[in-house]
Amino acid sequence: MPDTPLASVPPPGCRVFITGGAQGIGRAMADAFAARGARIAILDAAAMPDAPAAWIIHQGSVADPVAVEGVVAEMEQKWGGIDVAIANAGLSANRPTLGITPDAWRQVLDVNLTGVFLTAQAAARRMVPARAGVILATTSIYADRGGAERAAYAATKGGVANLVRALACEWGASNVRVNGISPGYADTALTRALIADGRIDPVAIIGRTPMRRLGRTQEAAAVACFLASPAAAFINGAILPVDGGWGANTGP
Ligand SMILES: NC(=O)c1ccc[n+]([C@@H]2O[C@H](COP(=O)([O-])OP(=O)(O)OC[C@H]3O[C@@H](n4cnc5c(N)ncnc54)[C@H](O)[C@@H]3O)[C@@H](O)[C@H]2O)c1
Repeated sequence: MPDTPLASVPPPGCRVFITGGAQGIGRAMADAFAARGARIAILDAAAMPDAPAAWIIHQGSVADPVAVEGVVAEMEQKWGGIDVAIANAGLSANRPTLGITPDAWRQVLDVNLTGVFLTAQAAARRMVPARAGVILATTSIYADRGGAERAAYAATKGGVANLVRALACEWGASNVRVNGISPGYADTALTRALIADGRIDPVAIIGRTPMRRLGRTQEAAAVACFLASPAAAFINGAILPVDGGWGANTGP
């Protein structure tokens, strides 16, 4: 008898926690999971007045363990648990390293790295005993390479990638998978602010990208849905690039 094909979308009703979901890549992820019948909970530093009424929305920081735990606790109380956690919130911090104050450095680490740890830990406290769950983190093309004026950003994203690998090793035996999604430059407020400040050059980025364009937020979101699906059941500890080939290209 032939094997039943594995579904490449998350099961309907799946309970998904997304940080930084008010806009950009996180919002596209929330919309993509919701379009596939998932239930959505979001923690974002910004308000989200346009969110559908059925979503759980908390305003707060991923760097605050009480705020992170508060969302997961409400998911548990309302929906009986959590199936997917996506640690997506992140700050860009492109500035000359000699001008980074210790407080500014710590702020980037708190949000981009500690925020991922706290999100993963709160989710896994439920997932490990349940022996089921998927944890995803949004890394970056700077997770495994450097770049001028990207000291804090690259340090945190490299940290997130290795945190993903470490957690995948620790929780894999409990059937909790941990993976990363590594978008190239996507057309979001974060990227637009960097372009407006003259900190990145879109012509150079597009020139290095074999597909000759910026990414779309929906493209990272679709990969998140796939990684949360039964078809990805044996993918663990991976960092999947969604960058149009940027990372494959050593040329200009
Ligand atoms: N846009 C890109 O080109 C790109 C490329 C690679 C990786 N990324 C990563 O993708 C993720 C999302 O980026 P984006 O482009 O959608 O950014 P964005 O700035 O459009 O959205 C980020 C969201 O995170 C929220 N946020 C910021 N600090 C927070 C905190 N302390 N607690 C909770 N929420 C907080 C913001 O309010 C915002 O809603 C980030 O981790 C970023 O590093 C983005």
